[in-house]
Amino acid sequence: MSTSAPAWWQRGAVYQVYPRSFADADGDGVGDLRGLTEHLDHLSELRVEAVWLSPIFPSPMADFGYDVADYRDVDPLFGTLEDLDELVAACHARGIRVVLDWVPNHTSDRHPWFEAARSSRDDPKRDWYVWRDGVEGGPPNDWVSAFDAVGPAWSFDEATGQWYLHSFMAEQPDLNWDNPEVEAAMHDVLRFWLDRGIDGFRLDAIVKIAKDPLLRSNGSAVLRHHEAWSTIHERLRGIRRVVDEYPDRMIVGEVDAWDLHGLVSFLKDGDQLHLAHNLLVTDLPWSPEAFGRSIEDFEELADQTCWPAWFFSNHDMSRAASRFGTDGQGAARARALLLMLYALRGTPFIYQGEELGLPDAVVPPERIVDVDGRDPERAPIPWRPPSEAGPGAGFTDGEPWLPLVADAESLCVERQAADPSSTLSLTRRLAALRATEPALQGGDQRPCDLGHEVLAWTRGDAFLAAINFAAEPISVTLPDAAQLVLSSDPSRPLDTLPHTLHPCEGVLLRLPS
Ligand code: GLC
Repeated sequence: MSTSAPAWWQRGAVYQVYPRSFADADGDGVGDLRGLTEHLDHLSELRVEAVWLSPIFPSPMADFGYDVADYRDVDPLFGTLEDLDELVAACHARGIRVVLDWVPNHTSDRHPWFEAARSSRDDPKRDWYVWRDGVEGGPPNDWVSAFDAVGPAWSFDEATGQWYLHSFMAEQPDLNWDNPEVEAAMHDVLRFWLDRGIDGFRLDAIVKIAKDPLLRSNGSAVLRHHEAWSTIHERLRGIRRVVDEYPDRMIVGEVDAWDLHGLVSFLKDGDQLHLAHNLLVTDLPWSPEAFGRSIEDFEELADQTCWPAWFFSNHDMSRAASRFGTDGQGAARARALLLMLYALRGTPFIYQGEELGLPDAVVPPERIVDVDGRDPERAPIPWRPPSEAGPGAGFTDGEPWLPLVADAESLCVERQAADPSSTLSLTRRLAALRATEPALQGGDQRPCDLGHEVLAWTRGDAFLAAINFAAEPISVTLPDAAQLVLSSDPSRPLDTLPHTLHPCEGVLLRLPS
């Protein structure tokens, strides 16, 4: 990997847009595609290689778009297919690729396929979903929904007297991927978007498309029967073959793997996923050993075809600034993580607002809308100070669908763009450096020992990155002739080499040639 030129999906960051919360052009309080198109300068300033849109398809919005009622259109809330075409053209004109979220495991219960399937046991679409008789008046097996609040992964359909499977909400019935017609129909969905010029897909909850065909209970079994069944690899190869019918496209899987062996099994041999979201990293405690071991273990298991991807935040988890912020160091840690994201070998995935160091928003009980407690990390982007732009902070002229973060006044894009010491300015510098330095894109990575509180690594012969995980200053001995390129701490002068790293500070140094 280090010798050949990196592909676009290896070179720089993929920026995740949660469209409901990015920018609202029509004033209804919910973000939309035109809002995004109008704010593409922000993405260009961040030098992103690609933008990944969380689902924009027609949906009753039980799971805010992850319940798809039509895979081949745009929900009117977000705009029209033409708006999407315009967005794609505008992105491509700037050299930004567009990646869509493909939700293959389940549809909405309002999808015509499911409406047909539930209409009668004899309907030709019945077997497109997973239907079973109950056991002793209860569900067919012990599988539970990924959402705690939902409970069993089965709902009873009164009209036809059987239970249907839903790995998430009851409004999201699972498709039956053991039926070849389903697989073919979902492949055609991919082709529909690939023909329209879409550059790749994020494969939602992908391990769920392969289940034990006998639907056995998990009980205390070692194997998970409800997901990641052995058929997953062949199904991924099928998806990859479709994507490979088109040049230079990419698929990244949301892979909920037990361990890194599982993760790597989807990447190796180069015939399944290009990239996998490593959810294991997002569960790590704030510890240099934990992060260091996870990074080194991946390198150890990976072969030449496995390229890492890193992410620390998305629309499903508490933002890093809050997750690691219980002792008041959240902002500093979030900045250090940004440095880590851009300086590690692998593709950085950055979630909208991470470049601003946003914390979670406080959502009062009467404004909670998500079934699984994920509203705080989905708060709208503050574009302008509320004191000037009104309570919508430039996100909307209407009433935002979720409350904004508390300190929108100083965290907003406009204020941070004007402040060289802001998190946004740091992210732009990191992105610019990565865009122009081949060693940061493709250079080998080696761990480096700078003391037990410090996680440090080199990239090629050119760069050294070091992060002080401690909440107090730590002395370090850095190579004499190295040059400090940037620090995650805005108070750090760049003209001398530090002897001490500030609490939770990350630094990037250029090594003498
Ligand atoms: C993925 C998405 C999440 C969604 C779920 C069901 O985990 O990231 O937001 O609720 O799949 O589609």
